[in-house]
Order: sequence, then C-alpha cells, then structure tokens
Amino acid sequence: MHMLEQLEQTYHRAQAELDGIRDKDTLADWERRYLGKKGDITVALRSTGQMPKEERAAFGKRANEIKNALTDAFTARETDIQAHELARTLEEGELDVTLPGRPVSMGGLHPTTQTLREISAIWAEMGFQVYRSPDVEDDETNFNLLNIPPHHPARDMWDTFHTTTPGVLLRTHTSPGQIRAMHELGHDGTEPIRVILPGMCYRYEQISARSEVQFNQVEGLAVGRNIRLSDLKGTIAEFARHMFGEDKRVRFRGSYFPFTEPSMEVDVECILCEGHGCPVCKYTGWLEIAGCGMVHPVVLQNGGYDPTEWSGFAFGMGPERMTMIKHGIKDIRYFWQDDLRFLEQF
Ligand code: PHE
Repeated sequence: MHMLEQLEQTYHRAQAELDGIRDKDTLADWERRYLGKKGDITVALRSTGQMPKEERAAFGKRANEIKNALTDAFTARETDIQAHELARTLEEGELDVTLPGRPVSMGGLHPTTQTLREISAIWAEMGFQVYRSPDVEDDETNFNLLNIPPHHPARDMWDTFHTTTPGVLLRTHTSPGQIRAMHELGHDGTEPIRVILPGMCYRYEQISARSEVQFNQVEGLAVGRNIRLSDLKGTIAEFARHMFGEDKRVRFRGSYFPFTEPSMEVDVECILCEGHGCPVCKYTGWLEIAGCGMVHPVVLQNGGYDPTEWSGFAFGMGPERMTMIKHGIKDIRYFWQDDLRFLEQF
C-alpha cells in the first residue's frame, strides 16, 4: 500500500500546484516535473515492473488513470493561459486585428476642374474638339488681329499684365486662340472648324468677391460656309439646357465686342430661384453665362478665311462663374485660397 499512497499524494500535490499556475513558464516547469521523462508520474509508472506481483496490476491501473487525468488538466490549463495572454495583449493594444483600418485621405478634383470637364463633355457631344492656345500671347494676337487696334477704347475692357518683353503679355481672354485655331486647324481658310479653347486668362484688376486676376475661360469657335446667327443661338441654348437643366429658358441680349458682329450676351433663367428673383441673380431672375456673336469679317480675314464665303460664330464663358452659380458660391476668391474646408465640399 505504501507505493500507492505515495502516488496518490503526488497526484494531489500536482493537482494543487497546477490550479495555481498562471503563466507559460511555470506551466512548462510543472509538466517537466510530473509528466516529463524523469517526472514523478512517469517514473512511478516505469517502476510498476519491479513491484510485487499482487500489487502490480492495481498500481499500474491507478498510475495510468492519474497520468491521463493530469495530462487532461494540463491541456486545459494551457488553453486557459493562452486565452488570458491573448486577451491581455489585445487590451494593452499592442495589436488589435479587429480595429477598422485608418482612412487614407484622398485628393479630389478642384471644383473648377470639375466644371471644365463637364463643359468639355457637353461640347464634345456636339462635335467641338479641344484646342490649346498659349497663356503668354503677343499684343498682336490678343488685340490687333481681334479688331482691337492700339488706341481703341475697347482696350479698356481688358486691363493687361505686360511682360518685360515689349509686345508680349498674358492673354486677357481666350479669344486670341481663335486666330491660332483658324490658321492651324482651318489650314488658312480652306477647312471648316469646330473647337473649344479652355484655359487661364489674366487681368490686372483689383481682386474682389467678383473678380480675380487669374481665371478660366472656355472659348468656342465654329467656322463654316453657311453658319448663321440661328446656329449660334440654337447651339448655345442646347449647351445651356445640358448644363443647367432641360426646362431652363435662355435669352440673348444685344451687346458689343470688337471681334463679333452682331454681339450678344447670353442669360439663363436663374437656377436657384427659377426666375422669381434672389440675391444670386440680383432679383432679375436671369444669370449671365456667356458673351458671343458672329465672328467679325475682319477677324475671319485675319484667320485666313475669305469672309465673303465663310462665316462663323464664337462665344466665351467663365467656368468659375458657372461653378459659383451652380453651388451658390458668393466669393470668387475661394477658388485660389487652397482652403480644404472649401475644396472638400465638392
Ligand atoms: N473674349 C470675350 C471676353 O473676354 C468673350 C467673348 C468671346 C465674346 C467670344 C464674344 C465671342 O469678355
């Protein structure tokens, strides 16, 4: 009975110790001492062969039972400790794989760029290709060839940034691109053309809520053999309906530009108050969206066309102004301030 008693005592001690273990290292030590190659239980089992025959069977049976019970208890404890350690790691925040990812901040298109793309897409649908003309122009193309001679009072319409090179300036409008497009795409008066010319313009003006020194324009030009005022009106009205809504009315008012004859200004029914009157349309019910007209014979000639055979229409619109109208933006200066609180709204 002596050996069996000792075995039971070892079992109880092992069990009691195991219950108090809270970490991996102590648990490994416990396993080595009781269940390892030289562990108490292993040694006891191995000693079965040297026992008196009559005790052998009972002892062996009991030793095996104890070995299995302790092995099970060990596995349970091990699982428990692992779960606790994981929970603690997560709590300490070393690595929490369940946290959602941090959002990556993404850039967006500038509101003017968005409007420019919208405008280009509408004109593209009507067959107008994009033509690029330089921002740095010569006096000749920006003014003279557009029928604005040096001392013409209409020059006052465009306050100009001149460079230190005489005769070289920053274009005050995209209209000089008309001359360049006529020569290049019109092959000096032999081919019809249909283009839009988007780009930056510069004016030496007092910056205010309504005017900036730098802004975009989208010029349009169509030259052909039978182009009439009704084509201009129909085309512009079609554009306005695409841009501002199918139900919007459009009106044309007589105006003056040296490079078009006749000249007009285009208004669209106010999209904010639907013509009833509001601060954006200054209680007129109408918003001005473009200047336009039939290309002046002198300008056609300067572009290489024979004005007795060819005719055309031209228009110029402001994307910033259109963006302001669409979103009810009250100050044009926001466009260049790079303020994310403004830009992120689009
Ligand atoms: N260039 C004119 C401006 O800057 C706009 C315009 C373009 C008018 C084409 C008529 C035809 O105000």
